[in-house]
Amino acid sequence: MSVLVTGGAGFIGSHLVEVLLSQGREVVVLDDLSTGKLSNLPDSSSLEFVKGSVTDEELVRRLFEEFNFSSVFHLAAVASVQRSVEEPLYCHRVNCDGTLYLLQSAVSRGVKRFIFASSAAVYGDLPQLPKREEMPVSPLTPYAVDKYASERYVVNSFRLYGLEGVALRFFNVFGERQDPSSPYSGVISIFIDRVKRYLTGEPVTVDIFGDGRQTRDFIYVKDVVSALLIAEERGVPGEVYNVGTGKETSLLELLDYIRDIVGTLPEIRFLPERPGDIKRSVADISKLEKLGFSPRFSVKEGLSNLIREV
Ligand code: NAD
Ligand code: UD1
Repeated sequence: MSVLVTGGAGFIGSHLVEVLLSQGREVVVLDDLSTGKLSNLPDSSSLEFVKGSVTDEELVRRLFEEFNFSSVFHLAAVASVQRSVEEPLYCHRVNCDGTLYLLQSAVSRGVKRFIFASSAAVYGDLPQLPKREEMPVSPLTPYAVDKYASERYVVNSFRLYGLEGVALRFFNVFGERQDPSSPYSGVISIFIDRVKRYLTGEPVTVDIFGDGRQTRDFIYVKDVVSALLIAEERGVPGEVYNVGTGKETSLLELLDYIRDIVGTLPEIRFLPERPGDIKRSVADISKLEKLGFSPRFSVKEGLSNLIREV
């Protein structure tokens, strides 16, 4: 039996695929390569790559008929909050309709487990911190609304159809292969790219939207892969879990860490805050810890690894 990883050619997906293959599993990746890259994926006879969209209902149906998936990891999405504000309809089709097409096929083919990459964005900007899974949500952007809707479809599928759906609310993930070339990419990959270019003499700036005091719970991608595998193995069906470190870091602190590691920084430019941007975010991870999860990398350790790598 094989495992389907949607979005497997992307940043987080490719790290998951790598570990699944190292465990001797047969993996199928469905990815339209809109932000992912084939070069992110290893060469392996146990890996089948299918180029296509999760919004192609017919393709999704055929894929589930052709392969006998035991588990589905659904990571394909437009991952940028900002892009969802600019293109809500397109993002809705991918981030919400796509989930439903996959769920429909998973249910009809009797797939056992369905693990969904949800987001801390569902919590919005409500003041209570750290975020616990049972707290009220307040999705502020089209991205957050679609993640929340998808998450509900996934976890409710357990009661409605017996599909063992588990949703993981990733906080801010960083690490190797997070593509910095797009303005929509994650902030750490953009900052490190700017520092790298600065070191080669390019006249670049580091841009901060807002005052830089906004915080995130930055989690290294290898720890996120561990969480995905724990969720597959022993996540309680119908449940939602935060995936973070429990530590809050502001953008200004992040830049201090980078300066400590690299020894220098480009000029910082402060630009207007992004609409829908969240001020503070940090996870309570005790629910996932009860399943045996424990993040192995601090932000500083993850950053050092990443900077060494690039
Ligand atoms: P990414 O952009 O690197 O990966 C997304 C992948 O999905 C890409 O390979 C892309 O080509 C693919 N994709 C996009 N639209 C598709 C479509 N219509 N059909 C098939 N494939 C499609 O981003 P990532 O950071 O690796 O994000 C992976 C998942 O984790 C996403 O669901 C994202 O919303 C979620 N997430 C990410 C973070 C983070 O901090 N990076 C935090 C919370 C949740
Ligand atoms: C990120 C993820 C999203 C995920 C969410 C969970 C990406 C692209 N987005 O969104 O998929 O669901 O975490 O919390 O991975 N910023 C700057 N300068 C820059 C870029 C960003 O100041 O050059 C700021 C942003 O305005 C924001 C913060 O940095 O305040 C983080 O931005 P970003 O990395 O895009 O992440 P989120 O919007 O939190």
